[in-house]
Amino acid sequence: MENNTNRYKKDRVYIETYGCQMNFSDTEIVSSILINSGFSICDNPDDADAILLNTCSVRDNAERKIHERLIHLKRYKKQNKALVVGILGCMAERLRKNLIEEKQIVDLVVGPDEFRKVPQLIEDARTGTKGIAVKLSRVETYDDIEPKHTSGVFAWLSIMRGCDNFCSYCVVPYTRGRERSRGLESVVQEVTYLREKGFKEITLLGQNVNSYKDRQSGEDFADLLAACAKAAPGIRFRYMTSHPMDMSDKLIETMAEYDNICKYIHLPVQSGSNRILDLMLRGYTVEHYLGRINKIKELMPECSLSTDIIAGFPTETEDDHKATLRVIEEVGYDGAFMFKYSPREHTKAYAMEDDVPDKEKVRRLNEIIELQHKVSKNINEKEIGKSHTIVAESPSKKNPQEWMGRTDTNKVVVFPSLNGTKEGDLLNVKINGCTSATLFGEVF
Ligand code: SAH
Ligand code: SF4
Ligand code: F3S
Repeated sequence: MENNTNRYKKDRVYIETYGCQMNFSDTEIVSSILINSGFSICDNPDDADAILLNTCSVRDNAERKIHERLIHLKRYKKQNKALVVGILGCMAERLRKNLIEEKQIVDLVVGPDEFRKVPQLIEDARTGTKGIAVKLSRVETYDDIEPKHTSGVFAWLSIMRGCDNFCSYCVVPYTRGRERSRGLESVVQEVTYLREKGFKEITLLGQNVNSYKDRQSGEDFADLLAACAKAAPGIRFRYMTSHPMDMSDKLIETMAEYDNICKYIHLPVQSGSNRILDLMLRGYTVEHYLGRINKIKELMPECSLSTDIIAGFPTETEDDHKATLRVIEEVGYDGAFMFKYSPREHTKAYAMEDDVPDKEKVRRLNEIIELQHKVSKNINEKEIGKSHTIVAESPSKKNPQEWMGRTDTNKVVVFPSLNGTKEGDLLNVKINGCTSATLFGEVF
């Protein structure tokens, strides 16, 4: 081990991350595995001995981005013949050896449950052996690995991996395998540790966090959330993503009970039509969904809500589309992630004809986006004059004199920075303006 550590000392790895928060959290785990084997992580591909792309397969355009990036990376390989290029994550799992066979430039391919092999595979690649590790596991949760946190204030904490829902359009159960939860005690221990290290905000992550279950004790996600909130009273807790089928009264009551659980829920509806929801195998009706929203609003009137929507699922009619628009208005989402349906190989929906023409998908998507912007703007205007406590996150990208942070309800607030504003400062801001996506405020 000692020898290995010395041998690798000079190898610098650059990791680029695509896709969802789970991937960003995984990159922190891979970074930690690499550092423990003697590698170092660098933040410029020009300095790297190995470049790894942690990839996403959820829609065709996510994969296309990676194919384009691989073309760019040829330039680096020309400059440095010894450079190792690797594909990690969901696309590695989906395309497997095809990536090595079809892409000369790719030296290693590692799926989300085999990250422990990354150091060895980089070493193999440096001696000319291309490597692949894509077995999915029923037990791997990496709970013994302390992620290399990119921030000292905000932490991602994966509490489960995989997904068993098999929504008919979705590739995730195929790329991430079966659902498995970490033990409750191990999560609470990590939370306590992060609190001692000075973290201010923790986001509990999983594809479907509210189906979390501690295998030994049977405790559920509401129990876990309550245990975290109690163990670290000074920390703000967020979580994502929730599934409408698992959004229990107990969970909503728990959120309402603890001040340090942020009042924000991402609850993807996908479609407002019961016929389409049925074809999507989502397992709920619009009525069930709206019932959950009403319960949330009843117990936490201040809670903000966001959603995911897919436009143009196979057989979707104009009436189905209009039903989706109605749900957007009825719920009044603070924000939404909106997508065009993209057929994914192996999924159940792949067998259906992708019969909504692209032009029509784009039209429906644009209508959804336009309505959502209007709804968000109306909601944000009601914030003007109100005060919020925010955690300062980073300087604003547009203006270095300004900073951004988030409210308890996950709204981005941009504000003129004070002398010495730094990441993690708890600040009171009064809102004085807004767009559909951003609030503007003044520290007081
Ligand atoms: N586990 C989460 C998110 C999974 S992927 C959940 O269930 O909510 C994030 C979003 O991508 C999904 O909610 C869905 O809206 C969208 N999505 C997934 N597969 C898609 C596909 N084939 N085409 C278009 N959008 C898709
Ligand atoms: Fe995909 Fe459905 Fe699982 Fe979300 S719940 S990851 S949409 S299969
Ligand atoms: Fe993409 Fe995989 Fe996440 S497919 S959305 S990176 S789980």
